[in-house]
Amino acid sequence: MPGRFEAASVLVTGGGSGIGRATALAFAAEGARVIIADIAETGGRETARMIEAQGGQAAFLHADMRDAASVEAMVRLAAERWGRLDCAFNNAGIGGPTLPLADYAEADYDAVLDTNMRGVFLCLKHELLIMVRQGGGCIINTASMAAFGGSVETGPYSASKAAVVSLTRSAAKGYARHGIRVNAICPGATDTPLPFRRAMPREEFRAQLNKMIPLGRMAQADEIAHAVLWLCSSDASYVTGHMLVADGGLIA
Ligand SMILES: NC(=O)c1ccc[n+]([C@@H]2O[C@H](COP(=O)([O-])OP(=O)(O)OC[C@H]3O[C@@H](n4cnc5c(N)ncnc54)[C@H](O)[C@@H]3O)[C@@H](O)[C@H]2O)c1
Repeated sequence: MPGRFEAASVLVTGGGSGIGRATALAFAAEGARVIIADIAETGGRETARMIEAQGGQAAFLHADMRDAASVEAMVRLAAERWGRLDCAFNNAGIGGPTLPLADYAEADYDAVLDTNMRGVFLCLKHELLIMVRQGGGCIINTASMAAFGGSVETGPYSASKAAVVSLTRSAAKGYARHGIRVNAICPGATDTPLPFRRAMPREEFRAQLNKMIPLGRMAQADEIAHAVLWLCSSDASYVTGHMLVADGGLIA
């Protein structure tokens, strides 16, 4: 049976790990040709190799979301690789230190906002121009359930993700008439390296999270990938400006 994304050209940022890797693999399994962009060469190349090993087409691009020239080149090269850009998954992000807001160093605040918010803005800016020229496309930004509430220890992260929600809404409204849909995925705690970059031992933190989550467990990265693919699929043809929360019921 042909996949939902047969021969589609898809860009995945942060594709070298976690949610980005799972989503790149899921797109490829449904026939897409995938550009994996990441600042981490080893992880990015490994995802491309994994796609090729399952019989798919993939290419790796080194890109840094904090660098405007790098993002512009990434989007241009991604669109050139297979002649167009059907879907873009703007997913690269960092958590930043876990500290009370008043203890946050300005440099750490800047790093979180530059990667998570400015990076998504830069991706949108260049992707939208290409998609307007080609007459349509689909963009998914990775926000977070953290966008919808305050965080005791990761305030700048929550602020950056709230900004991603807002940018998603603005892009959706502004570009719907060009046949471009823009949505956000808002994952809850997902079993990737990101949430475990903290002092607390891994299994202790996991047990603490599992107790708080109504479904009783963290998400697996491929569960988030399934939601991203649905948003990009023709089944979601009337969905734009939507924040799809996949958090096991946590913010319900
Ligand atoms: N894991 C979670 O619990 C969770 C929850 C909500 C939202 N998210 C979001 O999901 C997205 C993916 O996170 P993940 O959990 O897969 O984490 P991850 O650390 O496994 O993957 C993040 C990827 O982004 C890349 N990256 C970081 N900074 C970059 C930069 N400046 N330029 C290019 N690439 C860069 C990293 O190299 C890495 O490959 C992030 O935006 C994150 O904020 C994660």
